[in-house]
Amino acid sequence: MVTKLDVVQALLPKITVPQKSSGVAFAPSNIALCKYWGKRNVELNLPVTSSLSISLSNLGACTKVSLADAATDQIILNNEVVASNTVFYRRIVQFLHLIRPTKDTVFNVTTKTNIPVAAGLASSACGFAGLVLALADLFEWPLALEQLSILARMGSGSACRSLWHGFVEWQVGSQANGLDSYAYPLEYHWPELRIGLLLVDKSQKPQTSSEAMQCTVETSPFYSLWPKTVSQALQETHAALASKDFWSLGAVAEANALAMHALMLSSTPAIIYSQAPTLDYMQRVWRARAEGLAVFFTQDAGPNLKLLYLVKDEAKIKELFAEVQCVAPFEAVPHTAECLYDL
Ligand code: DP6
Repeated sequence: MVTKLDVVQALLPKITVPQKSSGVAFAPSNIALCKYWGKRNVELNLPVTSSLSISLSNLGACTKVSLADAATDQIILNNEVVASNTVFYRRIVQFLHLIRPTKDTVFNVTTKTNIPVAAGLASSACGFAGLVLALADLFEWPLALEQLSILARMGSGSACRSLWHGFVEWQVGSQANGLDSYAYPLEYHWPELRIGLLLVDKSQKPQTSSEAMQCTVETSPFYSLWPKTVSQALQETHAALASKDFWSLGAVAEANALAMHALMLSSTPAIIYSQAPTLDYMQRVWRARAEGLAVFFTQDAGPNLKLLYLVKDEAKIKELFAEVQCVAPFEAVPHTAECLYDL
């Protein structure tokens, strides 16, 4: 069986010393319109299907990484030292093990996120993408972004899409080592598109997406329908993006999210991320739509909803959902240097 380390060794140049005192990077969070749900290879995070996302502009993670003269890696998240007995710490350190040029190399990683961590807002995606970009900056790896996308994927599948702004597709690939399973940016540009974040619960989710995904693949009697569902959704999404047909885009994204949650509902044990306010929001979206407003939602492995709408309807959206946080994915991304200096 191919291991993560085999893949990293095949990809990484033999650069053992940092080329600068620290590496820094920003990576945006991303929201899938056609979801990644299920792995064909758990070790390498190889997906069952391709997926397609939109990045969230300046919402994401800023990361700084440097070598440390210490016994163990230090991770600071949003100004707090992460305890070494947490799942979060172990996940990052396991990833750093793959990268360490020598076994004595110790890293300091400082990350700031401006999205809630682990609340289904794709924080592991921007976290691992930011870490890989910061490491690439530190060692000056002469790698293309597609290759860095493969490295990010091994931290967290959806992280491979967080290396770019705008619409991004992660191609499923077919090779056993996953060297053809990476993301790349799509040409579509849709400046009028908006994403509205509706936070239901900011706390850590009870079950990680990896666990939930695996449970679905292994136990849902309907999982065999998923590859065809996604392949159809991808085709429809491309057609909607090419013709800027918002109603079609929203319809396919909402249906794909609901299909993913239906798979979870049919797993054993059943997995339900929605909470009462999630369902209330869904009903409010459907009511608004029935009255002619072009608004749709998508939902990931958490109770929060993300609205899809167009800028012309922003006033109405804010009126209906007072607490919504609006994101303009195609607006000039504010220079991220400030957040990096801040680290
Ligand atoms: C529902 O990328 O968090 O957000 O690869 O196990 O780290 P791992 O899973 P992760 O799963 C994301 C699932 C999703 C859909 C998506 O982003 O495509």
